[in-house]
Amino acid sequence: MSDKNFVIVGGSHGIGFGLVQRLLADGASVTVLSRTEGQLAGLDGVKHSAVDVTADEINGDLFPESIDGLAYCPGSINLRSFRGLKPEMFREDFELNVIGAIKTLQAALPGLKKAESSSVLMFSTVAVGQGMSMHASVAASKGAIEGLTRSLAAELAPKVRVNCIAPALTNTPLAERFFANEEKAAAMGQMYPLKRTGTVDDIASLGAFLLSDQAAWVTGQVMGVDGGLSAVG
Ligand SMILES: NC(=O)c1ccc[n+]([C@@H]2O[C@H](COP(=O)([O-])OP(=O)(O)OC[C@H]3O[C@@H](n4cnc5c(N)ncnc54)[C@H](OP(=O)(O)O)[C@@H]3O)[C@@H](O)[C@H]2O)c1
Repeated sequence: MSDKNFVIVGGSHGIGFGLVQRLLADGASVTVLSRTEGQLAGLDGVKHSAVDVTADEINGDLFPESIDGLAYCPGSINLRSFRGLKPEMFREDFELNVIGAIKTLQAALPGLKKAESSSVLMFSTVAVGQGMSMHASVAASKGAIEGLTRSLAAELAPKVRVNCIAPALTNTPLAERFFANEEKAAAMGQMYPLKRTGTVDDIASLGAFLLSDQAAWVTGQVMGVDGGLSAVG
């Protein structure tokens, strides 16, 4: 991987940071776009640019000339009843989850096409494939991500592969309010067939695989990493 360039949008915390650690360990060059340096502070070998994907222009100068893989990690979990969700809240979630990904991918496309073969990774949620109360806004946005994944996989093949991971509850800064009380978090874990909630490693391990050449014959997939929640009764 020493000659490969990866871009992790939202690589300063959570699942994105887990991906950065794995790619660095494999000897790749990593560029991160996020609002803050977060957990990257003091880490060698990462080029960080401070970017807010909802507010800033994203142009090709932010990326390496040739991009072997790009992951788009920013996302939201705004859980409210449908009645309590104002259209503006749907719009805000859509801006971060979907428009941010579109802006990033359009700017990165020349670099992705320049590599011999390249890979894009996006994130959905288990709440798209399985209806869950209070999830209307995030499910609407992430449903768009699943459609975007399959459309781009078709449009960009065979040069660029495009895949998506749909996690269930995973212990990251985004979900920290669900893990604040250890007892409640453990009780939530019991709802899963595999009897626990997810870790960054659970998700980043599949993410790193999908970004790598080991997944060279995988595209257009939305893969659940969810302790069995979506598939096992
Ligand atoms: N954690 C879960 O339980 C869970 C469940 C289902 C789906 N997912 C999805 O999995 C993906 C990764 O989630 P995560 O839990 O790792 O999230 P996270 O802990 O919130 O990390 C998100 C990353 O994105 C960056 N980011 C957020 N807003 C940004 C913005 N406006 N501009 C640029 N960067 C921004 C953050 O860095 P800065 O703050 O420095 O900008 C951070 O590095 C998300 O798409 C999420 O929806 C997560």
